[in-house]
Amino acid sequence: MAQLGPTGVSADALRVTDGRTGKNYELPIVDGAIRALDLRQIKVADDDFGLMAYDPAFQNTASCQSAITFIDGDRGILRYRGYPIQELAGTKSFLEVSYLLQNGELPSAEQAQAWNAEIINHTFIHENIKRFIDGFHHDAHPMGILVSTVAALSTFYPEAKQIRDPAIRHRQIVRLIAKMPTLAAFAYRHAMGLYYAYPDDDLSYVGNFLNMMWRATQLKYQPNPVLEHALDTLLVLHADHEQNCSTSTMRLVGSSEADPYSAMAAACAALYGPLHGGANEQVLRMLQTIGRAEDIPDYIRRVKAGELRLMGFGHRVYKNFDPRAQLIKQIANEVFEVTGPSPLLDIALEVERIALEDEYFISHKLYPNVDFYSGIIYLAMGIPMEMFPVLFAIGRTPGWLAHWEESLLDPDQKIGRPRQLYLGEPERHVRA
Ligand code: CMC
Repeated sequence: MAQLGPTGVSADALRVTDGRTGKNYELPIVDGAIRALDLRQIKVADDDFGLMAYDPAFQNTASCQSAITFIDGDRGILRYRGYPIQELAGTKSFLEVSYLLQNGELPSAEQAQAWNAEIINHTFIHENIKRFIDGFHHDAHPMGILVSTVAALSTFYPEAKQIRDPAIRHRQIVRLIAKMPTLAAFAYRHAMGLYYAYPDDDLSYVGNFLNMMWRATQLKYQPNPVLEHALDTLLVLHADHEQNCSTSTMRLVGSSEADPYSAMAAACAALYGPLHGGANEQVLRMLQTIGRAEDIPDYIRRVKAGELRLMGFGHRVYKNFDPRAQLIKQIANEVFEVTGPSPLLDIALEVERIALEDEYFISHKLYPNVDFYSGIIYLAMGIPMEMFPVLFAIGRTPGWLAHWEESLLDPDQKIGRPRQLYLGEPERHVRA
């Protein structure tokens, strides 16, 4: 094998020797990455397709350039447009953060007012949507209803297909952020067999969501300010998380130039899975299954034996702690002061304590993630488990949309189309 040394190798390049041919290549390194397409020049013969990178689950592949969210998983850093999550959560409203994600800057007071007014203007949904929500079984999972109704919105706004028109794009972004709580609350009320409570424009974004969820006979619903603020902060914590499964889905479907409703329905579907946004529901089911503190060690034993996963633990990117989980713990305390303590919280705290001292979790770098505590808070607020992923979807909507638009405007992007390594049968023929 040829001796490699620094001499003659550009400081911003990777020098590769192909052991099959002995040829050397210099691949430019830009922003800490090589271009996968540069590998294609590495061939054993002229008619060879060229080298590819095999990366199942995209564990080391940057699929895009982005200026929206920065994460340093080893140091537990999360920033939206450069702002640390700790400085946004609790101080900036979900709509201000949505504006930030979309526009790159926090809004001024006037911009915030105009943005709020725009969103409030679009909270109502077409009456026909109520009718097809009625068609779902009474026990239909609200995430299934949400995926379907988000997709159905595209049929109400055919102009959304004009994805190259900035004004039309903006209108759909506003509509989606505005209508998600309405769709979510209507899905909930359908399951409860309750009448659909219409949006109330006098309330905040989250106050209005609580109104559509909980309003009973009162003429005017008054949300509890502590719960309203806590839920708003939870949405901020979920607003974006760069190229996760659902956001990558949004970008991929969007890359075919599908309208944003269809792309976002696909993103919601990706979020629904128990390893992603469905995890918050699974955490609650797990805590209920454990039931008593004395049964935790046996549950942990089964997790370590590979029979189960400890839901709400572990993350592809965060390997020391999830900064969102730390902030959520603070919110939990505020909420429990209003709602009273939760017995499930005690079990959760004990699971966390035992797991964090256990060699298996330490060596696997498994820490509580955002979903570990969010479900306990939602439950204390009286929100049923099936709604947890729906709340995640409301929170993630501005992130999905910011990435969708960024992707469309990126001249480097084209329709997404991964390669594969074909390992199946070579050519063979059907016997006559
Ligand atoms: N419980 C027990 N073992 C685990 C867990 C867990 N929750 N997560 C990972 N491991 C083990 C896994 O068995 C493997 O062990 P080994 O190397 O001995 O075979 C090792 O840790 C690496 O696991 P992995 O599945 O290769 O890791 P990943 O980066 O592909 O998965 C994850 C990340 C979040 C899917 C995973 O940690 C998990 O399934 N967690 C539970 C579900 C959950 O809480 N999801 C919410 C994620 S945060 C919200 C969001 O952004 O969606």
